[in-house]
Amino acid sequence: MAANPMRPYVGRLAGVREVATGVKLFQIELTEPEGQASLAEYKPGQFAFLSVFGAGEAPFGLASARGPYLELGVSALGHVTNSLHALEVGDPVGVRGPLGNWFPMDQIKGHDVVIIGGGIGGLPLRPVIHTILDHRADYGHLTILWAARSPDLLIATDEFDEWRNAPDTEFHVTVDQGDENWSGNVGLITKLMEEVAPSTQNTITVTCGPPIMIHFAFLTQQKLGFTPEQMLTTLEARMHCGIGKCGRCNMGEKFICVDGPVFWQYEVKEFLEGFL
Ligand SMILES: Cc1cc2nc3c(=O)[nH]c(=O)nc-3n(C[C@H](O)[C@H](O)[C@H](O)COP(=O)(O)OP(=O)(O)OC[C@H]3O[C@@H](n4cnc5c(N)ncnc54)[C@H](O)[C@@H]3O)c2cc1C
Ligand code: FES
Repeated sequence: MAANPMRPYVGRLAGVREVATGVKLFQIELTEPEGQASLAEYKPGQFAFLSVFGAGEAPFGLASARGPYLELGVSALGHVTNSLHALEVGDPVGVRGPLGNWFPMDQIKGHDVVIIGGGIGGLPLRPVIHTILDHRADYGHLTILWAARSPDLLIATDEFDEWRNAPDTEFHVTVDQGDENWSGNVGLITKLMEEVAPSTQNTITVTCGPPIMIHFAFLTQQKLGFTPEQMLTTLEARMHCGIGKCGRCNMGEKFICVDGPVFWQYEVKEFLEGFL
């Protein structure tokens, strides 16, 4: 992180592409030497504040563990995110990061891994998948369970073939509701989880999606025999500072920005029940 964690590094948009309806993936080139050096510090699960000068900043999870650029995926929801969607390649942006904790990829080594991604929640899981595929021998069997409300909202479709064909990897995808071109699974991700029923032996699960989905995905995992110590997730909250100073993102005594956003199931169970 920068000496002054509230000062964004200056960057420019090196690439922008739509990865699902209403979701754009931004490739950001950090132009200051300190900013360029910060790229090497990012780990899967961490996040950064991306700013549009004159509009404001918002936090986004690291969306890639590959390539020369910082990649962040943005769903157009409100003021900052719509301003980001209006930017074009070459436009200046600011970046504060990396922030927060990360998925314990070293601890996960040697385990089978089940990835459970719902909607835009798939974005922060993409670097986890990249890390496993790019260091394939370090990890056991990989099961990717992927879902969205509809086919046009599926994230990372251009990587599906790579995931399907990767060694010791199985990939399953479902949508809540199909369309005339969809011939795959239909139903909630919890249904897919029960159908695939991944082995619990020496396995770690990594889940991301809306809070309600994480809650029910955890219940299904417990039904399948996973223990709280096997289940990881990453959470979102409204944030201001991102560095544990303002108290905006508290979850009980914890701050999601510094104690998270990555948590084990037993750390977030009660918090998730608040969304029911
Ligand atoms: C650690 C972290 C990682 C995130 N990763 C991503 C990501 O990879 N991609 C992405 O698109 N978004 C991500 N978000 C959410 C993103 O930060 C918000 O969507 C963004 O702040 C909205 O800003 P805005 O000014 O456009 O919206 P606003 O104008 O502030 O709000 C628009 C609407 O979105 C709601 N909203 C705003 N922020 C949040 C939030 N954090 N959670 C739920 N609802 C919210 C508001 O209540 C309102 O209804 C992440 C948030 C956190 C904390
Ligand atoms: S966003 Fe300020 S304490 Fe977490």
